[in-house]
Amino acid sequence: MEEIIAQFVKLRSIIAEIVRDAGQYMKEHAPDNREVHRKPGLANFVTDEDVAIQKKLMEEFDRLFPGCTFFGEEDVAGNDRDGRDGLCFFIDPIDGTTNYIFGYNHSCVSVGAGYGGEMIAGFVYNPYADEMFTAVRGCGAEMNGRELKIHDVPIEEGIVAFGCARYNEGDTDALFQIAKELYLNSLSIREGGSAALDICRVAKGANAAYLELKLNPYDYAAGSVIVEEAGGRIEQVDGRCITLDGPCSILAGTSKAVEEVREICRKYL
Ligand code: IPD
Ligand code: CA
Ligand code: CA
Repeated sequence: MEEIIAQFVKLRSIIAEIVRDAGQYMKEHAPDNREVHRKPGLANFVTDEDVAIQKKLMEEFDRLFPGCTFFGEEDVAGNDRDGRDGLCFFIDPIDGTTNYIFGYNHSCVSVGAGYGGEMIAGFVYNPYADEMFTAVRGCGAEMNGRELKIHDVPIEEGIVAFGCARYNEGDTDALFQIAKELYLNSLSIREGGSAALDICRVAKGANAAYLELKLNPYDYAAGSVIVEEAGGRIEQVDGRCITLDGPCSILAGTSKAVEEVREICRKYL
């Protein structure tokens, strides 16, 4: 484990550059109608750029770390989603695809690295705000080279973000009751359309907490290291550890905020 972490410390800026290039490609290639395709489920889109970026990232990481495996969102050859033993890259080539299609300018590229079932590094780049988040386990989290350290604010002193997707409609009623209560107990709520960026916003102190009832590992793997290395928490809503082999709920935040949001969720779930 120490050896692989040392490798990530050494390659941190090189990996960040690879992720930055992917983000710039996303920004420069706004999709047109021909490039938007539907996946199963309501409002579940994929663009040609999602696939092209994931392919390129897989090639780059395969070159840097021969033999590594991939758990990416898109169906690309070599994406085995089964690499929990050795080094595995969790790739969301575009997190915030619906924002991307509708020109919201709020999407990112998210790359997490796990080793033996534990997350060891995270890289998230938002090209619209030029924000590069990086973290290596035990070595801190940074945004554009500046160290991130969370202050333990309660939700009454902060913004609470939540996420929901039309293709995951279970618990919709409960979620919106929870959202109302979060609104009434915080400064405000947000639904930004990119889970990875909302988790990074916890790390940079913009969100006191982030809640979503069902996400996939590629949505939160990178953000999980970034938020923890910044001094925050990320867990399932019921307090269990997040999973890397399949979907789970996500509650990220300051320590106080996580406890408060969990208490609110308990009433409705
Ligand atoms: C989605 C975004 C959204 C979240 C959804 C995710 P995608 O990812 O992160 O904010 O609410 O649950 O699936 O499809 O844009 O990569
Ligand atoms: Ca995603
Ligand atoms: Ca995606």
